[in-house]
Amino acid sequence: MTDQARPPEADIPGKPTAASRTTLSHIMTHNDTNLLGTVHGGVIMKLVDDAAGAVAGRHSGGPAVTASMDEMVFLEPVRVGDLVHVKAQVNWTGRTSMEVGVRVLAERWNESTPAQQVGSAYLVFAAVDADGKPRSVPPVLPETERDKRRYQEAQIRRTHRLARRRAIKELRERRVAEGIED
Ligand SMILES: CC(C)(COP(=O)(O)OP(=O)(O)OC[C@H]1O[C@@H](n2cnc3c(N)ncnc32)[C@H](O)[C@@H]1OP(=O)(O)O)[C@@H](O)C(=O)NCCC(=O)NCCS
Repeated sequence: MTDQARPPEADIPGKPTAASRTTLSHIMTHNDTNLLGTVHGGVIMKLVDDAAGAVAGRHSGGPAVTASMDEMVFLEPVRVGDLVHVKAQVNWTGRTSMEVGVRVLAERWNESTPAQQVGSAYLVFAAVDADGKPRSVPPVLPETERDKRRYQEAQIRRTHRLARRRAIKELRERRVAEGIED
């Protein structure tokens, strides 16, 4: 990963957030449970990655791979029979990468209450060409005030990701240089 944020390609027309926003819905079954009988976190993470991947592909107009997933939060347990909705949208775009924000909601199978938010995550996808090399993406055009806030928050996360990665790299290089680790 490069250490500096690179501007998007000027010649690619932008796409509004709404153009690729996607919801993936799935009913949980007994195959999805952990030892407690509630839904396994990994099952939810797979749905999150699937929904985010669909959004990244639609926004970038081609294949995109997961580069990172962070701040995956599980707020409430999901149960067998619950109808889970995974809502994903592009929050931010760089030159070849996109941050996709995901919210996970559950409609309880035995309650007529509104869907409850049970989780959320942020994923970075890189658009790739046929050789798996990063390719440029259209800049996302946030339209609503909520989309604009999400864009600004994603920029903060991007800055922190790069700073953390750089700091850890420097620490490791320093320890190698000092002969503490090989
Ligand atoms: C993601 C991948 C394409 C990046 O390739 P790379 O040679 O490091 O390319 P770059 O350094 O140019 O990074 C490409 C973009 O991804 C971003 N990126 C790369 N790694 C990242 C990470 N760990 N976290 C956040 N962003 C990342 C870069 O910042 C860059 O964004 P920008 O162009 O918008 O500035 C490459 O590491 C890869 O193919 N990884 C495997 C992906 C995969 O198989 N996913 C499924 C997991 S099973």
